[in-house]
Amino acid sequence: MKCMGGGNNYDFKFLHYSLGYVNIPSLKELIMSECDDAFLEKHIENKELVSKIRIAAEMLVAYDANILGYCAFYANNPKTKDVYITLIAVKPMYQNKHIGKRLLRSLVDMAISRGMLTISLEVKKDNRKAIAFYIKNGFAVVGEKTGISYLISKSLESEAMAI
Ligand SMILES: CC(C)(COP(=O)(O)OP(=O)(O)OC[C@H]1O[C@@H](n2cnc3c(N)ncnc32)[C@H](O)[C@@H]1OP(=O)(O)O)[C@@H](O)C(=O)NCCC(=O)NCCS
Repeated sequence: MKCMGGGNNYDFKFLHYSLGYVNIPSLKELIMSECDDAFLEKHIENKELVSKIRIAAEMLVAYDANILGYCAFYANNPKTKDVYITLIAVKPMYQNKHIGKRLLRSLVDMAISRGMLTISLEVKKDNRKAIAFYIKNGFAVVGEKTGISYLISKSLESEAMAI
């Protein structure tokens, strides 16, 4: 399958990319702005959220010569041992190619290696694509976070025991 766009000519059969962690605040912001078109609602305009992620969140990035997608998360709560995903996005032209799945898989491996017990996040009730994606990846709706969003979670205990 070929896709033309933005002056690039991608052949997805040969999409090779890497995953890596980014810890430079300005680079995190650039990655968020690059991928903001993935969301219906613009996150880069939310200065408080961006500033919090810049300073305190960790970021896992999928990239080749371009940025393909990312996951911003917190894995710093020793009491709950919960990894909290703030934002996950794959650029629209790269979606449905298992990049999101690979980001989550890598996050699970990291979380288990750090002794974390769960991964959780908040998702808008009308974001059916994301909810289907999380359920396919072993998450379950565990409650309501607000009137318009669900709390979604995945336990890592069985996966950790299988290692
Ligand atoms: C949600 C998102 C990160 C998923 O990333 P992705 O790379 O497109 O998803 P993947 O290709 O890894 O999909 C993984 C699995 O979920 C499934 N899936 C993806 N979209 C789906 C849909 N609309 N309905 C059903 N299943 C879906 C895939 O079929 C795949 O299953 P498979 O392994 O059986 O083939 C991406 O679509 C995105 O950036 N969305 C916009 C931003 C967003 O809403 N983020 C979440 C906010 S909480």
